[in-house]
Parts: sequence; C-alpha cells; structure tokens
Amino acid sequence: MTDTNKATNITWHEGHVTREARTQLLKQQGATLWFTGLSASGKSTMAFTLEHALVQMGRLAYVLDGDNIRHGMNKNLGFSPEDREENIRRIGEVAKLFADTGVITMTSFISPYRKDRDNVRALHLAGNIPFIEVFVNTPIATCEQRDPKGLYKKARAGQLKNFTGIDDPYEEPLNPEITLDATNTNPHEAAIQLVEYLKNKKLI
Ligand code: ADX
Repeated sequence: MTDTNKATNITWHEGHVTREARTQLLKQQGATLWFTGLSASGKSTMAFTLEHALVQMGRLAYVLDGDNIRHGMNKNLGFSPEDREENIRRIGEVAKLFADTGVITMTSFISPYRKDRDNVRALHLAGNIPFIEVFVNTPIATCEQRDPKGLYKKARAGQLKNFTGIDDPYEEPLNPEITLDATNTNPHEAAIQLVEYLKNKKLI
C-alpha cells in the first residue's frame, strides 16, 4: 500500500505558528510514547493509566488505541502483513501530528513488525519530535492466561487465523527506550516509571 504514491502536484504550505509558539501556549511540549507488545500484554491499560496521571498533573495527553482506532479510521484494515503495515503507517503519521500540536501522545498497537516501528521512529526524528518506544514485554503465557477477549482461546482452537504470537510473528524491539512486563509491574507502577522517564528527559 505504501509504495503507491498517488498524491502528485502537491506543495507543502508552511504555517505562521511555530511549534515553539504552541509550546509556550500549552506550557508543554509534545512527544510520542509508542507502546508495542502482544495482545493482552497490558499496553492499553498502561497507556490509559499514564494518560490519566499526566492529565491529573495538568498535562494534555491522549491515547491512540489499536482496538479503538480500528473501530473508526482504520476499520478498513485487517491483519495481513500489508494491512498491519498500513495501520502502523497511518497511526505513526497521526501520532506525529498530535505530538506536533504539543500533546503527549501514547499509541497502543501490537505493531509486530520492527521495520514499521522503525519507520515511525524515523518519521518522528526527521520532524524533531521525541519518540519513546515502550516495549511491553509480558510473556505470552501470561497474555494467554489473561486473554480478556478470548482471542488466544479462539486462535488455539483454529477459529482465528494469523493471531500474533500464535501463528503470526511478533518482532521484539532491539533498542526500546523502556521495557515493562505486566507480570511484575502493575499499570500504576508503569505510569510512575514513565512519568519519571519523561521528567528525566525534561519532556515534562
Ligand atoms: S497491529 O498488529 O496492526 O498493530 P492492532 O494493535 O491494531 O494490531 O490490533 C490488535 C487487536 O486486534 C488485538 O488486541 C485484538 O483485540 C484484535 N485482533 C483481531 N485479530 C487479530 C489478529 N489476527 N492478531 C492480533 N490481534 C488481533
């Protein structure tokens, strides 16, 4: 999908409001925290807990969540490698736009392919926007035991094909900024660690 560039004869139109001006207005700067990991690893719960914590601290934060985005903008995408790539490409672009406005943006997508995540990272770095890859490295045995949507059970029974971790790949990040494991870190503890990280990096 990404190799067909149909948008031709277009010109970038620079605005008059700088990112610096938005930073002053909002009294915060944008960044993207990219949560990646297996289904039921705890990505979304951690991301939403962090969102809540940041908002309570007076920071504007927003979660772009895989299942939620697939109800709307990405409802026309399935789970083939091509569709997952397009899912991540779109959300990478949206996260970049959110972060450019000054919002602390969390994304919660399995994002199983290293290349797709690295492309999103490169996109952010090219735009000078902080990108923090958060690997939720919860063992599959735990994810499968939790199985809140009953999808592992379906996949094991052969009723759901190409399920990540069962009969579809998950490529672990090689150099994530942060690694968490829901087995020994609850969402509250994860949020505390992430807030500390953002403070240390002077992002909040
Ligand atoms: S991604 O691979 O393209 O990043 P995404 O995070 O958007 O996936 O969506 C994953 C969610 O879709 C899972 O949490 C699960 O609820 C649902 N899902 C449905 N089919 C699959 C599948 N084949 N593999 C993984 N998740 C699936």
